[in-house]
Amino acid sequence: MEGASEISAPVIPGVDDDAKIFPEMRFVKTDEPESYYACSTRSDRTYDEYTAALGFDPADVFPGGRILDIGSGVKATFAAEARERGLQVFPLNPLWSKDHLGEDYATGTDNRWVRAVSQRLPYIDDSFDFVVSLLGVPLYLPGTPRAYYDTFSEAQRVLRPNGVGLFMPLMKRVVNLSPHLKPVLGAATGNAYEILGNGNPPKLMIAKHAGALASENAAAVRKAADRNTANYATF
Ligand SMILES: C[S@@+](CC[C@H](N)C(=O)[O-])C[C@H]1O[C@@H](n2cnc3c(N)ncnc32)[C@H](O)[C@@H]1O
Repeated sequence: MEGASEISAPVIPGVDDDAKIFPEMRFVKTDEPESYYACSTRSDRTYDEYTAALGFDPADVFPGGRILDIGSGVKATFAAEARERGLQVFPLNPLWSKDHLGEDYATGTDNRWVRAVSQRLPYIDDSFDFVVSLLGVPLYLPGTPRAYYDTFSEAQRVLRPNGVGLFMPLMKRVVNLSPHLKPVLGAATGNAYEILGNGNPPKLMIAKHAGALASENAAAVRKAADRNTANYATF
């Protein structure tokens, strides 16, 4: 936990004030250092399931692209199936440890698989055309502004100039209730974010900079997200 909060240099009001916690988060704080994902689950959605949830086929919007899948399926099925479609998907999940979970989980034999958390991404700047998290973050993040700040500033850092990030779902109650969410997202991304989804659930889109929200890629993601009201979760 402490390690993750060391990465983002600027100290910003509202982010570094520990008293300000998003309300009603599911996260349960424990004494374990890996309590980032204390409430997470072990699903492993397929490529078709990702496509249905996103509302678009990533191979259409980001042909041949490099994709970071934050909070990937534990067996990285989406990544494997994406290869057949010409995409390079890099799955990232903190759970890949036999110690932590048992033998039926991915063990990192594919060198694209990385055991890490969203708050601290082990990639250089400008690495990905699309960063996605489906029922990963911010859903399972601790409810601190710092965790949100680190996650979305890191995601933006690793995006390529025309890249787009899509995180779903945002919990409705967080969007509606928290006075902290928008200031934290604004600070983390330099206001290069939008909350999408007229229906349910809300989704978060980020871009490399505010002007890039006008890009073709962002338009395609926005259109699909607003159209797709698949009810993956009613939080
Ligand atoms: C519900 S599963 C979703 C898996 C996959 N995206 C799918 O749709 O099948 C959520 C995953 O997010 C991972 N996760 C939780 N907190 C995370 C964090 N801070 N950074 C990266 N992954 C995280 C968990 O380990 C868990 O495997």
